[in-house]
Amino acid sequence: MAKPIIFGGSRGKVLAVKIAKLTGFELGEVIVKSFPDGETYIRFMNDVKGRDVILVNSVHHKPNDILVELLFEIETLKDLGAKRVIGVIPYFAYARQDTRFNPGEVVSFEIVARMLERAGLDEIYTVDLHLHRVRDISEIFKIPAYNLTAVRDLVKYVSKHYKLEKPLIIGPDEEAEQWAKIAAETLGVDYDVLEKKRISAEEVVIEARTANVRGRDVIIVDDIISTGGTMAEAVKALKGLGARSVVATCTHALLVGEALYKILRAGAEGIVASDTIPSPVSYVSVAPIIANALMRRVGKE
Ligand code: R5P
Repeated sequence: MAKPIIFGGSRGKVLAVKIAKLTGFELGEVIVKSFPDGETYIRFMNDVKGRDVILVNSVHHKPNDILVELLFEIETLKDLGAKRVIGVIPYFAYARQDTRFNPGEVVSFEIVARMLERAGLDEIYTVDLHLHRVRDISEIFKIPAYNLTAVRDLVKYVSKHYKLEKPLIIGPDEEAEQWAKIAAETLGVDYDVLEKKRISAEEVVIEARTANVRGRDVIIVDDIISTGGTMAEAVKALKGLGARSVVATCTHALLVGEALYKILRAGAEGIVASDTIPSPVSYVSVAPIIANALMRRVGKE
């Protein structure tokens, strides 16, 4: 049986190469171009007939364009005879719109999941999916779905590269407790979460009523840094309460506008992210955790 083949879409090329090296799966080539009018052109350069195909693409920075690209890619791979199309979508956009907050709103998370399944996706692997009101990835996908985490590697990196005495893990809001818990277990330390009130897409207010952070080296753990508002406010609150140092970590560094500047200016000693979205602070690669997960299940039968 032919080995599985990996393609990196326009937001997944580097990760695809790293995953191919770690798994020993073949690296294929897909050409993705935009026509002058903005339409998308895609061509797969390898024969996929009868093979398991792994498609790597993160949905960020022009997420709607990448979603269309993914839909075209999945359906075409099926049309070209792929046995299974396995999506590796390290950053999955739209997960934060998981309910109708106001009457008439689109619940995009649900719709995006259905679109990918209808296009023919057979299985999906993602990393630190923003699960809040939807508690488990299996509640949103009908196909086999695996939610991996970069949190262990992020905090191990911080613990190795920063001088931390008695570190404490902090989640900037209640939703971040899931990641704070994993981080605390990994380092064998305590954790706590702050209280966040969102005023607008760019503005949040953070309260740190219970956290006892005086003299502690704090690692903040969150899934996403978008505008940096949450992280910057959390850093300010923790420093205000007497934290000795604060390092900000996240899995997905969307880093809109001046996010990095805001967080550093707020007093963070450093910012550490993974490469689900390549960025200047993507010090930790998710390629090994994705490769391990794929090797356990793909190309076995
Ligand atoms: C929200 O619930 C997420 O977990 C992040 O805290 C949030 O998306 C970060 O956004 P921003 O950087 O714009 O504050």
